[in-house]
Amino acid sequence: METNNQLNGTISVPGDKSISHRSIILGAISHGTTTINNFLRSADCLSTMAVFQNLGVKIDEQNQQIKVHGVGINGLKDPSVKLNMGNSGTSTRLISGLLAGQSFSSEVVGDASLSKRPMKRIITPLSEMGAKIHATDNHLPMTIDGSRLHGIEYTMPVASAQVKSAIILAALNADGNTTIIEPVKSRDHTENMLMRFSPNSIEKHANQIIIHPRHSLTGQAITVPGDMSSAAFFLVAAAVIPNSKVTIQNVGINPTRAGIINVLKRAGAKIRIENQTGDAEPSADITVEAGALTPFTVGSDEIPGLVDEVPLLALLAARANGTSKITGAEELRFKESDRLNVIATEFKKLGIAIEELRDGFIIDGSKPWHLVDPNLDSHKDHRIAMTLKIASLLLKQPVTIKDFDCINISYPTFSDDLAKLRS
Ligand code: S3P
Repeated sequence: METNNQLNGTISVPGDKSISHRSIILGAISHGTTTINNFLRSADCLSTMAVFQNLGVKIDEQNQQIKVHGVGINGLKDPSVKLNMGNSGTSTRLISGLLAGQSFSSEVVGDASLSKRPMKRIITPLSEMGAKIHATDNHLPMTIDGSRLHGIEYTMPVASAQVKSAIILAALNADGNTTIIEPVKSRDHTENMLMRFSPNSIEKHANQIIIHPRHSLTGQAITVPGDMSSAAFFLVAAAVIPNSKVTIQNVGINPTRAGIINVLKRAGAKIRIENQTGDAEPSADITVEAGALTPFTVGSDEIPGLVDEVPLLALLAARANGTSKITGAEELRFKESDRLNVIATEFKKLGIAIEELRDGFIIDGSKPWHLVDPNLDSHKDHRIAMTLKIASLLLKQPVTIKDFDCINISYPTFSDDLAKLRS
């Protein structure tokens, strides 16, 4: 199965998706202007931007810098249209938290995939705060009748930064403090950013966050680091494609996001992290070089730190010399597709020895791949499309990937960056 598709060179990947969303959201409810450099202009982040424009927030762009003219937490306007979240779970869940405490009603809609994703996880805590949300079967479309909210103490039943952030944003406009307890820590970008926009609004403890409402937020200058979840495609590609060596510059390495680095190290990948800068949201240059890979295990405690990288870990496992096991990843069934099922289905077409578990996979990477079916399907899921593209570089035979253009959701320039590393 040897190919000469090796990747070599140095690139930067676009800005972090999670941080880009949050910089628009917090900028919109601040006083003053927020400037955003290296904002990710992908379909998901543009959905967030358009929603705030419909809520009366002026957002413009000059020399690739986004300017959000904040209206304050009570300055959003009654939208005269349905708020369309497109494909974006992050936009839906975070902005719903904010809408719950407004003085107007909103109707939230999304595309076919988003309309299948569970919203009970935000409806439950927000309703406990006094929110009035109507959603048939706990799915979009959803009507949010703005109402007066009160603080709650909430223990997160699943590690989810989207749910945690929805509660934080609702809590900013509630009567009384809100305490959120996180048994397993999820990405903390909302907390870090709120700490900058409104230090008196938030107290951060080991596994607990306290939100103090009614402190105003002040616009900030944000520079978004490169997205670890986008860099990960090329980090794993460099690890698995013989003779590759790739450096990705300025990648966000916030420890709540950088779990894949630890797994790459455990699998024996040659990886170097250099030129680290920044504090709450640090970034660094990461270099990975191809080499022999050993099997690994990943369990539930690690999943939140690499939740979007699990498809890529399956690929890493499929090239490691032995049997790897990934468990505790049942949340992947609720992403843009059922990623456990889709990865198992598509990897079997490549002849990869993969067994789908209820909450993960067992993958024997020592068995050679053999192409069974060249008609691969992204299931309109951006991370599946890009994982399959990287996998295809290990094949001698050509394959097709259905609906590959869904990569625009998070990484519109993926194919250009891949071309740079192949030239
Ligand atoms: C995100 C959180 C994660 C992740 C998603 C982005 C965020 O979802 O999968 O791509 O920006 O908060 P969950 O919080 O639902 O796990």
